[in-house]
Amino acid sequence: DGELCLSRSLVNSSDKIIRKAGSSIFQHSVEGWKINSSLVLEIRKNILRFLDAERDVSVVKSSFKPGDVIHYVLDRRRTLNISQDLHSLLPEVSPMKNRRFKTCAVVGNSGILLDSECGKEIDSHNFVIRCNLAPVVEFAADVGTKSDFITMNPSVVQRAFGGFRNESDREKFVHRLSMLNDSVLWIPAFMVKGGEKHVEWVNALILKNKLKVRTAYPSLRLIHAVRGYWLTNKVPIKRPSTGLLMYTLATRFCDEIHLYGFWPFPKDLNGKAVKYHYYDDLKYRYFSNASPHRMPLEFKTLNVLHNRGALKLTTGKCV
Ligand code: CTP
Repeated sequence: DGELCLSRSLVNSSDKIIRKAGSSIFQHSVEGWKINSSLVLEIRKNILRFLDAERDVSVVKSSFKPGDVIHYVLDRRRTLNISQDLHSLLPEVSPMKNRRFKTCAVVGNSGILLDSECGKEIDSHNFVIRCNLAPVVEFAADVGTKSDFITMNPSVVQRAFGGFRNESDREKFVHRLSMLNDSVLWIPAFMVKGGEKHVEWVNALILKNKLKVRTAYPSLRLIHAVRGYWLTNKVPIKRPSTGLLMYTLATRFCDEIHLYGFWPFPKDLNGKAVKYHYYDDLKYRYFSNASPHRMPLEFKTLNVLHNRGALKLTTGKCV
């Protein structure tokens, strides 16, 4: 059937990519990897020409008043009303103001993390960034548990918490957020129409349960600025993935960035199947040119940066 054909062609094209690249662009050794501090500084400086992550990581209270109407970043024809709840959860100042770290981990969600035993190593970093409220407790040995900054696309409510249809879904969500304590919860609420109801429900639950989590909502210019930076560096990305966004932001705060869980391919270099997400059964979607993300291209770019010592990409075992 159509879906099967599509997924077969995705697997084939990814096979081709891996075979073609098997020898060069996808290979990266962690042994002997050394940070290239001057390159790190140069990249930080270049990215600063496009965005200042301290500021663009979140809008702040003074950016809006309740009742303001804004245009969605990726769909300018549609608008969103800034509700009282949303306004009350905007931070007074950037949650990343003056924060600097020696080493950071950016944890993507690829199934390549399974059996990696990277949990301890990930948790040993000074600041750990995770994506889309990915579960950690059941996977602690491979992914760790420390989460200083975690993103949540509005679609996560539907995908992982049953659209909050039952009380138990809402409880599970509140429990997940309460585990974050006062970490930053980063919600891209102004990208496209469709998730506003979910964002409102999330905001209401945070307020009702007096959760300590520190909410942040990316600035209206962030995604364009990130895309601009990569475009200028000859990486034409329509819509940067959350993982690439996080790496780009992290260059502002972290001297050494370590990436885990980045592997947007259904097989590893030995031909073994790799799940799209380490924690659910979502299928691979990002190979066609029509899809919003271009994760294989992003991966190739990150791999080049690894080989130049700008970041460290781990796709194998940590022990
Ligand atoms: N990622 C990866 N390989 C995978 C899955 C994810 O490299 N097989 C990385 C990507 O950088 C991705 C990040 O891990 O952005 C987090 O994964 P996910 O939550 O799936 O990412 P989103 O970009 O938010 O995807 P979507 O827009 O579909 O929600």
